[in-house]
Amino acid sequence: MDSFNKTYNRKEFISFLGKVGLGAMILPPFLVGCGSTTTPASQEGFSSDDLEKLRKLVLEGIGASDKDDLLLAKGLDYHTVVKWGDRLSDKDTFGFNNDFTCFIPLDESNPTDGLLWVNHEYINPLFVSGFNYRDLENPKEHRTVEQVDKEMYNVGGSIVRIRMNNGAWSVVQNDPLNRRITARTPIALNWDSPIAGASEVFGTNSNCSGGITPWNTFITCEENYDSYFGETEYDENNVATKRSSIYGWERFYDYPPEHYGWVVEVDPKTGSAQKHIALGRFAHECCTLYELEDKRVVAYTGDDANDEHLYKFVSSKPGSLKEGTLYVADTENGIWLPLDWETQEVLKTRFKNQTEVLIRAREAAKLLGATPLNRPEDIEIDPVSGNIFVSLTNNKGKNDFHGSIMKIEEANGAFDALSFKASVYKAGGEENGFSCPDNLAFDMAGNLWMTSDMSGSAMNKEDGPYMPFKNNSLFVIPRYGKDAGKVIRVASAPRDAELTGPWFSPDGKTLFLSVQHPGEQTRDLKNPTSRWPFDKDNIPKPSVVAITGGLIEKMNKLNQLEA
Ligand code: FEO
Ligand code: CA
Ligand code: CA
Repeated sequence: MDSFNKTYNRKEFISFLGKVGLGAMILPPFLVGCGSTTTPASQEGFSSDDLEKLRKLVLEGIGASDKDDLLLAKGLDYHTVVKWGDRLSDKDTFGFNNDFTCFIPLDESNPTDGLLWVNHEYINPLFVSGFNYRDLENPKEHRTVEQVDKEMYNVGGSIVRIRMNNGAWSVVQNDPLNRRITARTPIALNWDSPIAGASEVFGTNSNCSGGITPWNTFITCEENYDSYFGETEYDENNVATKRSSIYGWERFYDYPPEHYGWVVEVDPKTGSAQKHIALGRFAHECCTLYELEDKRVVAYTGDDANDEHLYKFVSSKPGSLKEGTLYVADTENGIWLPLDWETQEVLKTRFKNQTEVLIRAREAAKLLGATPLNRPEDIEIDPVSGNIFVSLTNNKGKNDFHGSIMKIEEANGAFDALSFKASVYKAGGEENGFSCPDNLAFDMAGNLWMTSDMSGSAMNKEDGPYMPFKNNSLFVIPRYGKDAGKVIRVASAPRDAELTGPWFSPDGKTLFLSVQHPGEQTRDLKNPTSRWPFDKDNIPKPSVVAITGGLIEKMNKLNQLEA
């Protein structure tokens, strides 16, 4: 209770109690210590002058821009922490297209030295293996197994020890904890029966967003896994056929598609990993965990594809991501529907057992009447209200070009509730100044930070729906003060890039952020569409940056205004 009282003032504390109820009223330490919210600043020594300055804080956003640079609002600075290809050790280099980031301090008393986890979502073969994949149909183009091996090395994740010196974060090269998880790393399956004949599989890929467990391990989520090893599809007679992949790795390594599309947990210290079958198989964008008072775990996870669904796993045993029930959301009626073969007769018409239900969770969800959603992306729990926020990025097939952020209020504020209320928190579009919401992060004052993901091929196209928004950006929605509730653009990405993986350091003073796929539309390496981060190689490189500055520190104190 102490930590909660220090974080939030009494008024908020009571409102949180009112919403969350007795079962889950304590802000879990992982949300405070290592999560998207951060260790609270002390209220001690907060003078009336300080408060007056905060009251007058002018948050000057920046306008939309198509410039090839990472532009920041006044009061913010950035430096690059690690780039694609940087040496982590004599053995390993940093992978491609970094997405989710997450930082765990090695010693809780020192917030400036710890392990950074970074997802490497996918590769652009043109940069990584020299294969011009845009000519995949061209029979003259062949790719060797060595090229595919390079591609497989550059996805998965990195564990990197980083430390702050003189105000700048940098990699501790050759630290024994530095390591890579790749598309070839052996990974155990946390399930009692084999999946497609195996209990241990090769690697992880398509690692988009993620989370952190209450026991301080990393969570990384396999999203568009069918791009690498294809997919098994079933017709109306339940007859299976194999669909081939875009990247064609299965022509070199015939790994079963069923080994991918899971939530993966990685131990920061050992790098050992496991895939959590009980959380279902689909295009997992992210997985956001909450520990109940009795130590059972609730995990929210979304399936980022048009008309797919929002899921919630509730464990039946403390600390388990295996024993429990997976639910899927009927957002129209506010009901969590159990994906349970034993009790749902309709599932028995299509599947032989619970393992099949979990492997083919998308089909099972539809049989139960789950609500099709407009591509659920990131999910975060509001540390002040306990509400759950879900980015619905867009659904072009339904003419939803700009998406929205959905708010879920669980019944009686209980995260293991079986019913809830869903509503639109903020709609994308010109009125609110953003389009295609993706990653979300709350800071320690409860301000909501959000990144956008308009696709590289659609941005900055004359007469297209995304023209007014120009390059992808980072926004903040202040919770307090005169700008409360407004969407303010605070960073603009380099050309073709997307800003992903926002994560606050434990002292709230650094925002780690990925700059993913700069120059993605490049056709010719000699003439790339971006040259950010402008290093000696003069080609675009996905990189993790650290954003610091007075503005972040002031934003993190805005809640003091309500004290
Ligand atoms: Fe990888 Fe759904 O963004
Ligand atoms: Ca995403
Ligand atoms: Ca996205």
